[in-house]
Amino acid sequence: MAVREITKGIYAVGALDWERRLFDELIPLPYGTSYNAYLVKGSEKTVLLDTVDPTKGQELRDHLRALNVDKIDYIVAHHGEQDHSGTIPQILELYPEALVLTNEKCSVILQDLLHIPAAKLRVVQEEETISLGEKTLKFIFTPWVHWPETMVTYLPEDKILFSCDFFSSHLATGELFASNQSNTYSAAKRFFSEIMMPFRAAIRNNLKRLENLEIKMIAPSHGPVYDNPAIILEAYREWSDEAGVKNEAVIIYVSMHGSTEKMVRVLTDALFKRGVGVKPFRLTVTDTGELAVALVDAATLVVASPAVLGGAHPQVAYAAMLAAALRPRVKFGAIIGSYGWGSKMVEQLGGLIGGLKAELLEPVVAKGYPREEHLAALDTLAARIDQSHKDLGIQ
Ligand code: FEO
Repeated sequence: MAVREITKGIYAVGALDWERRLFDELIPLPYGTSYNAYLVKGSEKTVLLDTVDPTKGQELRDHLRALNVDKIDYIVAHHGEQDHSGTIPQILELYPEALVLTNEKCSVILQDLLHIPAAKLRVVQEEETISLGEKTLKFIFTPWVHWPETMVTYLPEDKILFSCDFFSSHLATGELFASNQSNTYSAAKRFFSEIMMPFRAAIRNNLKRLENLEIKMIAPSHGPVYDNPAIILEAYREWSDEAGVKNEAVIIYVSMHGSTEKMVRVLTDALFKRGVGVKPFRLTVTDTGELAVALVDAATLVVASPAVLGGAHPQVAYAAMLAAALRPRVKFGAIIGSYGWGSKMVEQLGGLIGGLKAELLEPVVAKGYPREEHLAALDTLAARIDQSHKDLGIQ
């Protein structure tokens, strides 16, 4: 990525990762990602806000060289995760006079994960300001988006919020600004669903803390800069609002010989007939990111499985465990499926999704290929889901 000036004296110096397809060995990255770092040149001090994934350290160093940066006074570490802090040791080697500014929790994480010496770290306090000359850094602690130490920096003179992972999108693009990139907001929703969704309460609190700031731009650590930040702020309010679910059901399933699939189709049609939106995901061909996005809005999660070795199909068990870990806003859950001669899958799957704050509806399980009685039970389940949504006023 070439160095770009965002506004006078503030440069995007991070790296694009067009080819990366998996993050944390878990999250699919269909559009690659970027590791955004920003250089702010004040009249007296120069600061680097975050770094890049260590695999892209050379690019960051090249960008600093291209800007003729001969001195960095401070490196701000908003977050200890290695995709932003992993290159701090390389930058400290290149600019040995630099001090790393971060909060107490992050300073411990940086010492543990990256072995950054304590002498190179300066702990900042909540709402502390540091003058760079005609520009000022103001640190605002925003814990749990998505680690306990996460924080953001506000530049009051330029009204820019450097938000790190908060509001990010995994998107490699040559466009600097979100308004020029048509899929920024769908990528941001995907990022929210995969990374931020479990921390909705923290997000709501942190959004409140930002309410008093006049924000002209949000510069996150992945994806384009928001030149119209009202849209992403509103999206985050909507996605983190507990009452914001839609009249939709997500069905995750695997079918080996067609029995479970028949049940999924019957339930899907019965829900459609009643006006409930349905998103079925056959897990053997599912992009888990797409599933996570669907879970942002769903009011009901249905888990459907055949029996394998006495329990649920392992891929269903994995997806149920993942869905529960993402802690979506779902209000209702149900288990359906088919078995040959015996299975504990209802208990097993019930345990896996039991941590969700969702009411579990009566399961529907068929011995073998579903008969009329099972199809009728699925119709009853659809009616129950529909009525439960209506009772909660879900539109
Ligand atoms: Fe983009 Fe939590 O690191």
